[in-house]
Amino acid sequence: MKTVDTLLVVGLGLIGGSFAAAVKLAGACRQVYGYDLNRTSLEEAQALGIIDYGCESLAEGVMAADLIMLAIPMLAMKPVLEQLSLSFAGLPAELPVQKVVTDAGSSKKALLDAALEVFGGVPTWLVPGHPIAGSEKSGVGAAKATLFQAHDVILTPLENTNALALEKVKLLWEACGAVVTRMDPCHHDEVLAKTSHLPHFLAFSLVDTLAGNPDNQDIFRFAAGGFRDFTRIAGSDPIMWHDVALGNDQAVLQALDQFTEGLQVLRQAIVQKDSQSLLGVFSRAQSARQHFSSLLESRKQRVKSLPESVMVCNGFSGSVLVEDEDTKQDAMGSMKESTQTFIARPGGSISGDLRVPGDKSISHRSIMLGALAEGETVIEGFLEGEDALATLKAFRDMGVQIDGPYQGKVTIQGVGMYGLKRPEGPMYLGNAGTAMRLMAGLMAAQSFDVTLTGDHSLSGRPMNRVVDPLRQMGAIIETAEGGRPPLKISGGARLKGIEYHLPMASAQVQSCLLLAGMFAEGETVTVTPGIVRDHTNRMLEGFGYPLSCAEIISGENGSDIATDIATDITTIVALKGGGKLTATRIDVPSDVSSAAFFMVAASIAEASELRLSHVGMNPTRSGVIEILQLMGADITLENESVVGGEPVADLVVRSAQLKGIDIPERLVPIAIDEFPVLFIAAACAEGRTLLTGARELRVKESDRIQAMADGLIALGIDAQPLPDGMMINGSGDSLSEQRVKPVFNGGTIDSHGDHRIAMSFAVAALRAKDDIRILDCANVATSFPDFAGLANRAGMRIVVKGKCQ
Ligand code: S3P
Repeated sequence: MKTVDTLLVVGLGLIGGSFAAAVKLAGACRQVYGYDLNRTSLEEAQALGIIDYGCESLAEGVMAADLIMLAIPMLAMKPVLEQLSLSFAGLPAELPVQKVVTDAGSSKKALLDAALEVFGGVPTWLVPGHPIAGSEKSGVGAAKATLFQAHDVILTPLENTNALALEKVKLLWEACGAVVTRMDPCHHDEVLAKTSHLPHFLAFSLVDTLAGNPDNQDIFRFAAGGFRDFTRIAGSDPIMWHDVALGNDQAVLQALDQFTEGLQVLRQAIVQKDSQSLLGVFSRAQSARQHFSSLLESRKQRVKSLPESVMVCNGFSGSVLVEDEDTKQDAMGSMKESTQTFIARPGGSISGDLRVPGDKSISHRSIMLGALAEGETVIEGFLEGEDALATLKAFRDMGVQIDGPYQGKVTIQGVGMYGLKRPEGPMYLGNAGTAMRLMAGLMAAQSFDVTLTGDHSLSGRPMNRVVDPLRQMGAIIETAEGGRPPLKISGGARLKGIEYHLPMASAQVQSCLLLAGMFAEGETVTVTPGIVRDHTNRMLEGFGYPLSCAEIISGENGSDIATDIATDITTIVALKGGGKLTATRIDVPSDVSSAAFFMVAASIAEASELRLSHVGMNPTRSGVIEILQLMGADITLENESVVGGEPVADLVVRSAQLKGIDIPERLVPIAIDEFPVLFIAAACAEGRTLLTGARELRVKESDRIQAMADGLIALGIDAQPLPDGMMINGSGDSLSEQRVKPVFNGGTIDSHGDHRIAMSFAVAALRAKDDIRILDCANVATSFPDFAGLANRAGMRIVVKGKCQ
């Protein structure tokens, strides 16, 4: 669609050149004119095909164009606006609709001040804008048609800005693949001073300072990756940054002062050998950086949804290429967030002694309860995966002092039940469904408003399962369409306890209501069909919060009967509001859900024997062991003990010939996260495995029934997805075989960004004929950081392509 007839780009540097190229590539205007004081740039732009016509004068271009983009240094704005005012003086009165002027400068106040001086007011046809994209490279030769794809562009219109003009500029940026947002001009300048201007000035200053050292030869010769990464942007255009420093001086000075203060704190900590402060600064920064990576990762999801994003104009001469993955990453920004691919090589056996990372469910809860407790809570074995770190970051954003994680240790200075503070902005929870659902309960009871957001996958997950009962308790919550995130939770609601019968067996829903119940008037009672993980109840007890739990077991006739013939179990948990939490120590066991990948790996791979140490053996989580044992797996438990209220054990797993089974439905909720890898076990088993009663798998990080069925079928397995489960005809060989035969063909699998799908197919490679290439694996880091490293130490061979941070 042609948004514009003739576009004039004034200033053919990196940004102006890229804008012209992007608009041309999108076919969003009939013709692109260019103007630059520097004739060489003008000629180069024409030679590269970035512009259709190079104007002799600004006036010539202005007469012809209906949209003018000013991509010039900040201090050049005023003289250029003066020239525009002269050209416009001779034009008819309907100018506002016919000609629109926008810019790409990084200080909006500087542009508006210049406009005020030249025109005596900000004209209605001027739409201030700023693309958040760039490179340390400058000049038209560095221009890229893809520079703005999936990047934010901030428009900062004023009240009098012409609506049509604004829409025209917005559509043009969107045609370039950008994501357009609106902001107040002053707020824009403050934000950019911190996120863009300050880092550039630090890089310039650091390089300049070190270059002045007498030993600078050695400094630059031996400068390692850190120096290179940190100072890359010191290669940027000096004129442009000079103008930014003076154009946005007030906000920049504020950011510099704040940074200087932080540097002083660090200096003081080093002088005083204050390890706690040093580790505090470093670990807080580390986790904030990891969190930031997740944000970038969600931007990656936006790139995925733009089909044009894989197209680049080859040398701007018109032919179109498909980019490789690395180029695509580059187009997304200077931080190399990426898609990650696992290439799992076929065969191998599993051995050794492994400790998989800490339990995700327990890690989330330990932060939440530790933050609300009175006193200092110390957590050991905390999962340093992105999901748990998102929860940690959210509580930091609400004013809780949290040190770590440092080698799994986290120390929380609890603020008490009513001590949380309003966060500055929306809290981004990445991929973490547990964080969002549990926090919804806590946030519903606060005095301040909160918005909870998440990545592409989380934004598609159902939240009404917690929102509906919370509303019954009196919470005020708005969701996006269909009860999806973001959740806008209003503060100041008075909650009252309810008795809620959960429609599904969900620990997240149960936990959410219990957490809200601590703040509610009266008693909150949850009645859950089946058994679900009980970490919330155990941890509440550990923090000294009284609650009562009961399991009602009934047979088909409804009478209470013994467990082994029970067909229905109902779990009832109740607590009264108004209590308090007392800080405690928490030892997080290894996550049985992460250990499950290795239990299956060692079972299906030939000649394997593996010890998994300190694995959580909570009976509400250990369904995977029972199912594998029913299938004939050789798993024994050693060193059984209880730590901090949670049972743990070492597991010894040896290769075994598995057989297909009908999975008892009572085990479904207590093995809910392990089915993806259990399907891999089923494919290697002899005979049919049938899973039913697991409809919940369809609303996890992906539709795990469909994603696994698609992957299994692609690898040659006879699998049939069912509405609430799966039927798999295993092709495992019989016990008499000396060497196990491959079961899976090689092939490419889409993990749909679901960590457990990705890891499951990596395990399948142990019994594959050829490589299994698994796409979209970056989210493995949400639950299992360094999965590939640990797996390779145990005997798998996973090559990781692309990096996440
Ligand atoms: C979890 C509960 C389960 C599980 C999820 C973690 C928890 O979800 O799948 O990974 O920590 O409470 P549901 O409650 O939706 O079954």
